[in-house]
Amino acid sequence: MTEQVTFHDHKPAASSLYDAVVNGLSRVDKSIPPKFFYDKRGSELFERICEQPEYYLPSVERRMLSQLTQEIAALTGRGRILIEPGAGSAAKVRLLLDELRPVAFVPMDISFDYLKSSAMDLAREYPWLKIHATCVDYTHSMPVPEEIPDGPRLLFFPGSSLGNFDRDEAGAFLRMVHGALGDDGMLLIGVDTKKSESLLNAAYNDAAGLTAKFNLNLLHRVRQELNADLDPDLFEHRAFYNTEAGRIEMHLVSTHRHRFRLNGHSFEFEAGERLHTENSYKYVPQEFIDLASESGFSELRHWVDDGGLFAIYLLTADRRG
Ligand code: AVI
Repeated sequence: MTEQVTFHDHKPAASSLYDAVVNGLSRVDKSIPPKFFYDKRGSELFERICEQPEYYLPSVERRMLSQLTQEIAALTGRGRILIEPGAGSAAKVRLLLDELRPVAFVPMDISFDYLKSSAMDLAREYPWLKIHATCVDYTHSMPVPEEIPDGPRLLFFPGSSLGNFDRDEAGAFLRMVHGALGDDGMLLIGVDTKKSESLLNAAYNDAAGLTAKFNLNLLHRVRQELNADLDPDLFEHRAFYNTEAGRIEMHLVSTHRHRFRLNGHSFEFEAGERLHTENSYKYVPQEFIDLASESGFSELRHWVDDGGLFAIYLLTADRRG
């Protein structure tokens, strides 16, 4: 198994929660970036959100991928180098591996421990699969290990994670993917669609209250990890679809006027003031295809499920001229 799996540790610098909180709360419109949701508890809560009936994204995408594997493999061909940024537990790629038969799989993740255990599990399940587990913050760089064989690459980016970037960041991310792909490269990406406001609002306000806990967990992190005298009970979860911007917005709303202290800083909240924690952009297919084409990709095929809930795109990387 050791030869089957190799590790490439780029030692991603831990982003500083402290800097993000001090900078984000010093602004007129207070905000903290969504990447700080994912500590151990936040990641567990996100996994549970993915099982909620209202949060349709993962189940619809999974169903689509299982139905489309043969069609996708016929378009990509077998034997590519398969790269997955933010692979985590690599659950969705398992739906593709038997059909795609990649010559190597390059899962990328920021957490070395998580990457290691999921790469070892994958190696046990797929003894024929060469795995180059790469520990990196893929939002900053996408280093493909030098010793992987030459050959066409396919980058897999499911889960509508692109939606958490604003348009400029999404364009920059796609250009970085283009750079990592090289000649004959392809991108297989799952992106959430625009749809009825009520379905979108329900997806981010599940009845079990898990999205609320996930959002509020950010404040528990600030209190515990940064020793702030902040009371998370003074905030409420709020998520709504902003039609004009084409995105779900998540906020934490202060229910009372109060202030809290953090290492010599003092932050004040008015009653009803919001702390913006996440955007999740939704795209009609043509909007996404246009964005991708501005970043050097051409659409080969896209699929939308029967309910119009989710879209999967297969794109080719244009040759650099
Ligand atoms: C990870 N990301 C694609 C999720 C989303 O839908 O934007 C994060 C999430 N936030 C609340 N629920 C799920």
